[in-house]
Amino acid sequence: MSIIKKIVTFKPGFNLRVIVGLISVVGFLSACAIVGLGDLSKALGAQDAKYTARSIEAGAKVYFEQCARCHGADGKGIDSQGPALNSIAFLGKTDAGREVQKSQRILDIGWVGNLDSYIRAVTTSGIPLKSSNQWEVIHPAFGQAVGGNLRDDQITDVSRFILNWAQNPATSGTIDSPKPGAAFVPKPTSAPLTPEQEAGKAVFLKNGCNACHAIKGVAQGNIGPNLSAIGTDAAAIITAADYKASQGKATTVEEFINESITAPGVYIAAKCPTGACPANVMPPNFKTTIPDADIKSLVAYLVSLK
Ligand code: HEC
Ligand code: HEC
Repeated sequence: MSIIKKIVTFKPGFNLRVIVGLISVVGFLSACAIVGLGDLSKALGAQDAKYTARSIEAGAKVYFEQCARCHGADGKGIDSQGPALNSIAFLGKTDAGREVQKSQRILDIGWVGNLDSYIRAVTTSGIPLKSSNQWEVIHPAFGQAVGGNLRDDQITDVSRFILNWAQNPATSGTIDSPKPGAAFVPKPTSAPLTPEQEAGKAVFLKNGCNACHAIKGVAQGNIGPNLSAIGTDAAAIITAADYKASQGKATTVEEFINESITAPGVYIAAKCPTGACPANVMPPNFKTTIPDADIKSLVAYLVSLK
């Protein structure tokens, strides 16, 4: 009695074709072994790397759509909106996939999992406690299981994208999360805005000033000067030699801010976030497009920023 026949009689109804199939799989695998398992695993390794690269690419898209507005396009964090994810403190450092420096953040908070599991946990469920008054926003919960808009595979992708920074993490200019316990730093309470200043803030946003200018907690533009303390900065500008040598005529903070908005060409601010300020970028026609009363409240708002 042949082996095949034995099996067939031993398990009635067993399909001969299945056995033939099994034998050919075994045959294929032995052929592979003969050809060289090394080559096979190399081929699978290359396949794996391709898959990871695609996942990182998909993660980049998720990051720029969902995370960059708070963590920054470069991942270095945005003041009061979100901490750096691209920083040596958060990521540690890896070299060719091998960890050479641990994540200080993971050590500080005593997270028992790895960094990937921490990123996924925060991304999926948000942060359940307000552990810090450093941030003016609450973390969104992105996981679909908790009512968010990201699938598990997208969360895997975005975590891979963030972890990929660990090969060359940013070491300067980052806004890192404060250490636990060091978080509740008393902040000076800023005086509440008057109704006119409140109206001016609305004018600022309505006219797209926020596309080019940053104001702490309000706007994140980075083309023109940061206006978070323009009420203080303007006082220094009008006494500086380069302003006096320009066509600017302002002698008070109010006049300077009004002039900057209604006649931006007369003086070009010195320092913009990415270098020297460009001329002819601040739109020249606000004097005609914004009603006088709105300009007045806009100036009152900007003067109050100190
Ligand atoms: C609305 C702003 C906002 C958005 C959008 C946002 N985050 Fe955050 N993120 C924060 C803030 C604020 C914190 C710090 C919260 C805290 O520590 O209490 C934080 C913390 C984190 C942390 C922990 C960092 C640390 O140092 O412990 C991770 C990881 C993270 N976010 C990932 C993401 C990912 C991934 C996305 C996009 C899918 C995202 N975040 C979108 C605001 C945001
Ligand atoms: C397209 C980008 C852009 C927009 C939109 C824009 N600005 Fe500007 N703004 C700039 C640039 C660039 C400068 C610096 C060059 C200069 O002084 O003209 C500047 C300069 C200023 C200054 C002087 C700052 C300083 O430190 O000297 C003020 C004040 C100002 N803008 C207010 C506003 C207001 C208010 C609005 C909205 C009504 C606005 N800007 C819209 C780009 C812009």
